[in-house]
Amino acid sequence: MAQYDVVIIGGGPGGYNAATRAGQLGLKTAIVEGRGKLGGTCLNVGCMPSKALLHASEYYEAAAGGEFAKLGIEVKPKLNLAQMMAQKAESVEALTKGVEFLMKKNKVDYVKGWGRIDGVGKVVVKAEDGSETVLETKNIVIATGSEPTPLPGVTIDNKRIVDSTGALSLPEVPKSLIVVGAGVIGLELGSVWKRLGAEVTVVEYLDRIIPGTDAEVATAFQKILTKQGFKFALGAKVTGAEATAKGVKLTHEPVAGGAATTVEADYVLVAIGRRPFSQGLGLESVGITPDKRGVIANDHYKTGVDGIWVIGDVTSGPMLAHKAEDEAVACIELIAGKAGHMNYDIIPGVIYTKPEVATVGKTEEDLKAAGIAYKVGKFPFLANSRAKINHETDGFVKVLADAKTDRILGAHAVGPNVGDMIAEICVAMEFGGSSEDVARTCHPHPTRSEAFRQASMGVEGWTMQA
Ligand code: FAD
Ligand code: NAI
Repeated sequence: MAQYDVVIIGGGPGGYNAATRAGQLGLKTAIVEGRGKLGGTCLNVGCMPSKALLHASEYYEAAAGGEFAKLGIEVKPKLNLAQMMAQKAESVEALTKGVEFLMKKNKVDYVKGWGRIDGVGKVVVKAEDGSETVLETKNIVIATGSEPTPLPGVTIDNKRIVDSTGALSLPEVPKSLIVVGAGVIGLELGSVWKRLGAEVTVVEYLDRIIPGTDAEVATAFQKILTKQGFKFALGAKVTGAEATAKGVKLTHEPVAGGAATTVEADYVLVAIGRRPFSQGLGLESVGITPDKRGVIANDHYKTGVDGIWVIGDVTSGPMLAHKAEDEAVACIELIAGKAGHMNYDIIPGVIYTKPEVATVGKTEEDLKAAGIAYKVGKFPFLANSRAKINHETDGFVKVLADAKTDRILGAHAVGPNVGDMIAEICVAMEFGGSSEDVARTCHPHPTRSEAFRQASMGVEGWTMQA
């Protein structure tokens, strides 16, 4: 029977980063994954395939939608959807192989199959052929991730009514697509199919899009998406959907009360959130009970049962790959007797649409609710020379700083490439930096990053370029 220091259940960003760090620290480690490929949701059916389609569809739209022509490049693009999907699959395959290589490099055993805890210190892995392997270990890390939340009254068949996985592989460009949920998945995958030619209507329960995001950014983003052709039905509750061979009939009614509306579309994407995946894990054998959403609680990644730890989407906090990754490192460092730590106040969030949305730290709404006095600096991309020259002027950057100390409390942006640039603010915040620190840091010209500098200058009222 194999004896380990750590057995990790789940091969996503939580699991594979935990395995890598454990290997680096000399712990005898195994990673158990049931889907036949490492990389989890993120690499296989999440972050990476969605970004592959966002990238390709952005080029297609630039060519088809007149942006290239405006730059003096005359082309008549022809969509080859099969090739677009093939290049996505190829990149995903290469990435999952890359993770396998990392496991080998760090001397981690990759055990294929579904893992089940069978008492403290024991994981039983059931392989595809039904055979079982028992792994004995000092520590178990649960990193089993999440799955799409179902919508009562709507059956996902992944043919006409799809979840995010289905929407990453539609066999054709829909003429019309209804997206249920104006969150990250709905707007990213809605953008992909809209750019390729679909008419996209987003039906959202709340009276706003991307809940939790700074309201001013969300409002500006919705205006930009509307200008792009997105249609929104906000404050609308979906009560049912019926798939036929040719399409879907979906019924929704106003949350505030009123008559129901039935709309038809070729496809419906349901993207109303994700829920932790904690079933079939043998948790009862060690006395761990997830809450009613399936969340396995943690205190510094400890489940409450000695030697059993939990990280990533299956535990509390934002369901993001980089959050899972940071928890993985902190958890393994604690197991190795080091001071594992992660800062939950500084987890950036990005929506990879065009333009992108990027946020970190407190929103204005958070600060008002907490009664914290703050100052705001803002800068529009219209006044950023690089954005202007590239015809990408939609959006703005907003920096929020403590009114007394000038310490940066948050930054929120909608605009070109803000997803990459928000990292600058994350670093400044980790160092306890002030808006003046960013404002007085020399930024390269002409770059869009100057918008973050100009917004930071704005906190003390000395924005120079607008
Ligand atoms: P997962 O990645 O879900 O991995 C868990 C793994 O555990 C799975 O592979 C599963 O098969 C395996 N598993 C489960 N139970 C068992 C068991 N009993 N035995 C063996 N294996 C098991 N996040 C971002 O930060 N940026 C993005 O751009 C982004 N885009 C996304 C786009 C989409 C369409 C989706 C759906 C998600 C996206 N996310 C993104 C979220 C991101 O994918 C997750 O936050 C991240 O994958 C969580 O990592 P994890 O390791 O906790 O879980
Ligand atoms: P989400 O939580 O981002 O958005 C779900 C939306 O659906 C919300 O606006 C919510 O109000 C709405 N909603 C809930 N119930 C509804 C109902 N019955 N009818 C209509 N609307 C309803 O969830 P989403 O988009 O499914 O994504 C899941 C998670 O995956 C995200 O929270 C995020 O953590 C992760 N993700 C991250 C990405 C990124 O970082 N770029 C990309 C994609 C996913």
